[in-house]
Amino acid sequence: MFIQIKDPRYGYLFLLTIPIKISLAIGNFKPKKTHAAVHQDFLREYLESNQKVKTLDIASGSGNSLFRHGYMNLNAEYTAVDLSAGMIVQGRRLMSKQKAPANFILADATNLPFKSNSFDITTNYGAVNGFTDPKTALAEMVRVTKKGGKILFLDEQEYKASNWLEHFYFKKVFAYHNTTIGCPVDLLPDELEDIEVHQVYEFVYICTARKKA
Ligand SMILES: C[S@@+](CC[C@H](N)C(=O)[O-])C[C@H]1O[C@@H](n2cnc3c(N)ncnc32)[C@H](O)[C@@H]1O
Repeated sequence: MFIQIKDPRYGYLFLLTIPIKISLAIGNFKPKKTHAAVHQDFLREYLESNQKVKTLDIASGSGNSLFRHGYMNLNAEYTAVDLSAGMIVQGRRLMSKQKAPANFILADATNLPFKSNSFDITTNYGAVNGFTDPKTALAEMVRVTKKGGKILFLDEQEYKASNWLEHFYFKKVFAYHNTTIGCPVDLLPDELEDIEVHQVYEFVYICTARKKA
């Protein structure tokens, strides 16, 4: 039987899933700082002070990242935005099921409906590289963050020691849909300091920074 694959990504995915797993297992990538440690360091000052913090998660989707990465341990007021009404429904459902009230708002990352300097922490998981206008989205992210507040965003980036197979997989499958395929440090506004980019997995970075006081 002949199966027609319309999106070539699925063809590459089908062919490369096992070889790429073997390649990554042999490569034995070890991050300088793990995904969990980056989050622990990022949140430490807020956890220690236990002051009420206002958090904003941009392009929150189902709310999965907001829920899983330590933010629920904060004494916080949670706001989340997404461009898709369907994802907002999913996000509200997850957070209310977990008894973690969050205010989900339908909004575009490039035109956020918030006053400047509103949030202590602003995050964005898995969306920056796919935005058609990442520069404006990052500027908006920083605009709505309070002076002295922090931002964190995560997306795809290939690790430096990748081999030809991993490079091919990254381009054809992992980061296939993206306009940007690495941390867009050059697009970050000047109001930021302490900018750090952590390669936490072979194909994933986390960028953290603070808005100058
Ligand atoms: C890969 S999902 C990530 C969802 C979530 N952050 C997570 O980690 O599970 C990307 C999300 O970005 C949203 N999105 C895409 N463009 C957007 C924009 N311009 N403004 C707000 N959300 C956007 C999509 O609707 C989708 O929910």
